[in-house]
Amino acid sequence: MPIRNRKHLVFGPAFAGILALCLSLQSGKAKAEEDAPAVDKSEAAARCATRLSITFLGTSPTASMLASPRPQEELVDVLLDDNVFIERFSRFVNSSFNVGAGERPEQDASYYMAKFVMTNDKPWSEMFVGRYDVDVVDGRVQVVPNPEGLGYFRSKPWLVRYAGNEPAGIKIVTAYRMLQNVVGLKLVATTNAPEADVSAKGRSAPACAGCHYDNWHALDKVASVLSKKVVDAEGNVAFEAYTGGPKTILDGVPIASDEDLVQALVGSENFADNACRLAFRFLYGRDENSCEGETFDRCLDELQAKKTMQSALAAIAKNPAFCQ
Ligand code: HEC
Repeated sequence: MPIRNRKHLVFGPAFAGILALCLSLQSGKAKAEEDAPAVDKSEAAARCATRLSITFLGTSPTASMLASPRPQEELVDVLLDDNVFIERFSRFVNSSFNVGAGERPEQDASYYMAKFVMTNDKPWSEMFVGRYDVDVVDGRVQVVPNPEGLGYFRSKPWLVRYAGNEPAGIKIVTAYRMLQNVVGLKLVATTNAPEADVSAKGRSAPACAGCHYDNWHALDKVASVLSKKVVDAEGNVAFEAYTGGPKTILDGVPIASDEDLVQALVGSENFADNACRLAFRFLYGRDENSCEGETFDRCLDELQAKKTMQSALAAIAKNPAFCQ
């Protein structure tokens, strides 16, 4: 289900010049590397080990890392298995998937789920469709098996955090957060003037409909297949299941539940794009540029073959370009 075209695969005429320049730069570097004397090679290896250690662990390399003649081949898999890396990556995911930290630890469900998924070498999709629950169990936050689970998207603390305040209980905020987490949708909510009509009627006005009713990400349509927020007289928040049958949303896909929604998103190209973009941002501290399409494609291929975030990260960090 292609929701949109992959940007880095669109090599129209305007991109041909950039591509040629990228290729000549890369082959120039490779040539220089071949001709380098031995001392330069070991210096380059030490620089590479330093880069890998700082990127993955946030610390200077150990003496044995510095002594590795081929750091990308020898160190990347070891670093990917290191608990310090898994901790750092889980925090990075959590800060990418949320606005600030939750009021309580269990609201940072994506942190716990990422750590669980990475520690147990699970497919990255398990973040969103795995049969789990993230909640306080025996006094501490845990990821526990739950046959009714949907990643962390049905965990109560997360649901409450992102329930929003729409007057009719429609969970627009949840809908947006799910799209942002799974496929990387980025929209900036417009600030409502105090007197603005925030009801469904108001949101269908031209200034609002572009985000709320039109386009594949129409927030109100996505929210319409989620449960509704209900608040009782004591102020307790509960959720009322959606039972209205399939609706045609996203790019014309019939969706009847939060589960259908997340399965469709995880099955889209945008899911893999977003996973590789996360991996790229963690490793480079920025988005990929137009010369890095090849690295990005290698990441997508590895992710498709092996499913894990580790495989995505390895594809990028083992690419010679990472240490050049
Ligand atoms: C550029 C896209 C965009 C436009 C345009 C837009 N919104 Fe939104 N709207 C969002 C996003 C994103 C959210 C979710 C915000 C969040 O995560 O807190 C949202 C959330 C909302 C909510 C739910 C708030 C809650 O707490 O549950 C209401 C109500 C709303 N918008 C009304 C409007 C109205 C009225 C307009 C037009 C004046 C409008 N929006 C225009 C993107 C948009």
